[in-house]
Amino acid sequence: MQFYIDSANIDEIKAANQRGWVDGVTTNPTLIAKSGRPHHEVIKDICNEVEGYVSAEVLSMDTEGMVKEGHELAKIKDNVVVKIPMCEDGLVAVRRLAADGIKTNVTLVFSPIQALMVGKAGATLCSPFVGRLDDISHDGMDLISQTMQIYQNYDMDTQVLVASIRHPIHILESALIGADVVTVPYKVLSGLTTHPLTDKGIAQFMKDGEKFANK
Ligand code: G3P
Repeated sequence: MQFYIDSANIDEIKAANQRGWVDGVTTNPTLIAKSGRPHHEVIKDICNEVEGYVSAEVLSMDTEGMVKEGHELAKIKDNVVVKIPMCEDGLVAVRRLAADGIKTNVTLVFSPIQALMVGKAGATLCSPFVGRLDDISHDGMDLISQTMQIYQNYDMDTQVLVASIRHPIHILESALIGADVVTVPYKVLSGLTTHPLTDKGIAQFMKDGEKFANK
């Protein structure tokens, strides 16, 4: 399973990348706005740091605008993936960009039927949002297993990128289902290697080690 970081903060991305946690990056307008910097400049900096796919979202809501923005974003570097919001115009833009050899990631997917349409449109990545479904009392992970099943049934090339991840259980369940990619905020990534019993065990071993270390 690939690990992406969901961030537009270059310091976080560098810190996670140095630890080997970054197979790719996803951004969205909210994350770019938080960075307080121009969109293309942020994407360029991220692409210079990371070799894997870097998703950069368009702001247009019509096919022509999305295709135009998509071409501009794709010029930044060849690992840019154009992020397109889930809608009819968006899926037409996905087909056009795919025909031009540009990779796409369809975002804000909340149902398996939407995911099926994303696969049929030929997107590189499909981003179902699990946390936001959990927030409204739906089981977000059901969407992941159903999307995986549909793509396997029809041998679709689109990869499932689990988005809106809030905690390690989302990542564990994604791995058990066999999702292709998880995109994870830095705060969640940095908690994945810890366990209170590990900390307790290390403290005890260090204490006991002092008893013979200098003998
Ligand atoms: O990649 C999409 C993700 O950033 C959305 O996360 O926590 O805003 O639902 P969240």
